[in-house]
Amino acid sequence: MAGLRSAQWYAGDDRNAYIHRAWMRRGLPDSAFTGRPHIAIANTASDFTPCNAHLDEVATSVKQGVYEAGGIPLNLPVMSLGETLVRPTAMLWRNLAAMAIEEMLRANPVDGVVLLGGCDKTIPALLMAAASVDIPAVVVPGGPMLTGHFRGAPLGCGTDVWRLSEEVRAGTLSEELVLQSESSMIRSRGHCNTMGTASTMACLAEALGMTIPGIAGTPAPDSRLLERSHATGRLAVDLVREGRRPSTVLTRASFLNAIVALAAIGGSTNGVVHLLAIAGRLGVDLSLDDFDRVGAKVPLLVDLQPAGRHLMEDLHRAGGLLAVLREVRDLLDPQALTVTGTPLVEHLDDARIWDDTVIRPRENPLLDSAGIAVLRGNLAPDGAVIKPAAASPELLRHRGRAVVFDSIEDLHARLDDPALDVDETSVLVLRGCGPKGYPGMPEVANMPLPEKLLAKGVRDMVRISDARMSGTAYGTVVLHVAPEAAAGGTLGLVRTGDPIVLDVPGRRLSLDVTHEELQLRQSSQQAAAAYAAPTRGWERLYVEHVMQADRGADLDFLVGSSGDRISRESH
Ligand code: FES
Repeated sequence: MAGLRSAQWYAGDDRNAYIHRAWMRRGLPDSAFTGRPHIAIANTASDFTPCNAHLDEVATSVKQGVYEAGGIPLNLPVMSLGETLVRPTAMLWRNLAAMAIEEMLRANPVDGVVLLGGCDKTIPALLMAAASVDIPAVVVPGGPMLTGHFRGAPLGCGTDVWRLSEEVRAGTLSEELVLQSESSMIRSRGHCNTMGTASTMACLAEALGMTIPGIAGTPAPDSRLLERSHATGRLAVDLVREGRRPSTVLTRASFLNAIVALAAIGGSTNGVVHLLAIAGRLGVDLSLDDFDRVGAKVPLLVDLQPAGRHLMEDLHRAGGLLAVLREVRDLLDPQALTVTGTPLVEHLDDARIWDDTVIRPRENPLLDSAGIAVLRGNLAPDGAVIKPAAASPELLRHRGRAVVFDSIEDLHARLDDPALDVDETSVLVLRGCGPKGYPGMPEVANMPLPEKLLAKGVRDMVRISDARMSGTAYGTVVLHVAPEAAAGGTLGLVRTGDPIVLDVPGRRLSLDVTHEELQLRQSSQQAAAAYAAPTRGWERLYVEHVMQADRGADLDFLVGSSGDRISRESH
């Protein structure tokens, strides 16, 4: 028993050990408390998180694997976040979930943990928590849902919702027909089946080395997910026996590998914020510029919505993430380990592309360079990001007049006003939607286009915001502007009519207004003060401590790992 963290609860003959064992026995044999690793299954299953509702079944397979390998599996239901329901945005609660999971792992007799996530914020929160406690940990991504169809055509979650709703607003599709498609989109258990944030984070968890290789993207209803969950349970016991902790897997090398993966799969811009936050928990030196520097030379190989055509079920059939990574093997750090104890690159030998219309070979990419571009300039001194793969090529260099909206409500109230002074060359600016301003940095940066322009056939415009964007969205959208308007950023000083210059190849984002004029506006502006500070509860704590997007929007006091220290006895 010596050496196990749980021994500090269970070993010995004193009254406290008696209490700990007696309450936990419930049919367990004596051997459960004499040297067998206790493995928590941090389970984000919830009926309010439909993407994760099947994780109890996954947990059963994990449990069987843990038992088989000699461990004791223990269900640990943890805070869950359903992307489509939670208000004002699931991102407001990511750090709360991470903090709660971290503390429950530390407070309990846990030797190792299997992290069950799926919907957008759940895998990031689980990884942030595990990184902070730094006990042996492995992720099981819950997997995407199967492809839904409507009138013979596939429906991609999220992406097709945005597309269909724009078609309705443009008058090219009836509302009645769209409503008929509602029950067709979510065909099965699992998370969104586009290369949205959930799929991206599952792939990044694998690229980071935090899953058994080959599991990411296994569809939720596929029996192989249960087989791999069983194997993950076994592995969790080995992790404890070998003392392999997240800090041995999550090195700078593995984060750089994840950036390569993010680019090659055409992953969500949310991946940037989450990777920065996870790295921050471990003290790994990772910056926004690493995404541009490392990602810029990576080709886009995966033809999935929103950047392309297919869906996650197709990616899995075509060979999955390992087949993608094999194509860019030379860009991966050969030293970066996985939870198996062997480097990620060693798991690529047997990977194959089975359908090269879904996974393109290196010599025939969808785009030569797919990385997320990091823009700077007086409008974003600390950076802003854009996903060129999801943007219109002709808008990547653009100069246009700003049309400013102070909030998402302001946008909804005025966007379709026929009198709004806007044309297709305008630049839509939405502010007040950053971490502090909203609060929580919602996914509203992919603003809808004005109805009168949609009717003219316009389908994309330059849009700029301090918000995030759904990983399922597309368009020429500059987001994560830092500092945000509510933190005193220049974004708060923009006025309608100001010229804005976007130069993605040159990595610039500028407000073409003189420095003197901006200083004048700064001294008279009330913008930052206009964002009412929450007075109580989590929102208050969040707004007082949240960092900007370029630091992963984590709380400042959660940066750095505090380890698995065991606190004083409860009685
Ligand atoms: Fe859960 Fe998209 S709503 S992954």
